[in-house]
Amino acid sequence: MFFLPLFALLAYDPTAYPLNNNEWSFPLMEIIHIAGFALSIGTICVVDMRLLGVGIFHEAPSQALKDTATWSLAGLLLVPITGFAIFFSDPLMYMHNQSFRFKVTVLTIAIIYNYTIRRWAARTGPSGATAASIGGVILLLGGLALVIWDLHGGFGVAGMASIIAGGLALVLYPSMRKSPEGSWGTAHALIGAVSVLLWVSVVFGGLFIAFV
Ligand code: HEM
Repeated sequence: MFFLPLFALLAYDPTAYPLNNNEWSFPLMEIIHIAGFALSIGTICVVDMRLLGVGIFHEAPSQALKDTATWSLAGLLLVPITGFAIFFSDPLMYMHNQSFRFKVTVLTIAIIYNYTIRRWAARTGPSGATAASIGGVILLLGGLALVIWDLHGGFGVAGMASIIAGGLALVLYPSMRKSPEGSWGTAHALIGAVSVLLWVSVVFGGLFIAFV
């Protein structure tokens, strides 16, 4: 049962796939893919810039998070739909592409980080602290497992990013736990900086697929 998807992929004939049968659908899918991540990462970075103490000063990070959350989620739903549509144009090639492996792994790390640690940093106060600490532990242990499993490959390099993101969150946890609701400090800025680095890594992971 376990190997069925792999056999299905091996038996799968990409030449019959719609994106491989005309000149316009693959580039059109890439355009929608780029629009999707511009929307998601663009709105996520608005809040991260606020966490870094730059950008829209008239809004607290918690308010900026509230105003952008739906748009970020809409973009984050669009990219996997278009991404997998492109992926199935040549699944075996992409599955062996180290930059693709790096990208989808860092994307998973960035999404866990976004909805646990970074969400807590933007909203501050006690609520969300437990989710942030759980997120930190998952990223630290998950990263260690990825590095042990695939040290020199795309998964392993992504694992190192996960260890840094999770480890930092756990180190900052005690000081952030004490910070009063609505406060802002170096810990919040550091968490915003790691968020930006994770999403930039996803973009470069995507850009380098064609070159690896
Ligand atoms: C926020 C998340 C994502 C970002 C920022 C992102 C970014 C990118 C970028 C920058 C490219 C290169 C576009 C180009 O060369 O014109 C790309 C291509 C691609 N992406 Fe994504 N992507 C994301 C999510 C996904 C997901 C979830 C998948 C699905 C498995 C995926 C699959 C692909 C594939 C297959 C390509 C084509 C690469 C090629 O042949 O050049 N992406 N992505």
